[in-house]
Amino acid sequence: MFGVAVGGNAILLLKIGGKIYAMDAVCSHYFGYLPKGDVKDRAVICPVHKAQFEVTTGKVVKNVPALMKLATRKEATDLRAYEVEVVDNSIRIKV
Ligand code: FES
Repeated sequence: MFGVAVGGNAILLLKIGGKIYAMDAVCSHYFGYLPKGDVKDRAVICPVHKAQFEVTTGKVVKNVPALMKLATRKEATDLRAYEVEVVDNSIRIKV
């Protein structure tokens, strides 16, 4: 898992089972840099407050704890997932 910049967007790339997925690299809660997080099953876990995002869709699968939601007055929202195509050993991301 690592991050790249494409067309002014910070994008996370992750390979699972031979397939490459791309989604926003910055957490929608408080800007955690997701490539520094962990992966569990098909979810990327934010390194800051542990919200989880499904890598194929960018949807939140586990939000921040209720106390954190109260303290920050904000919760994580769905991220954008991008189409990925591999052509001649190059990764193309549709932004
Ligand atoms: S910054 Fe990602 S869960 Fe808070």
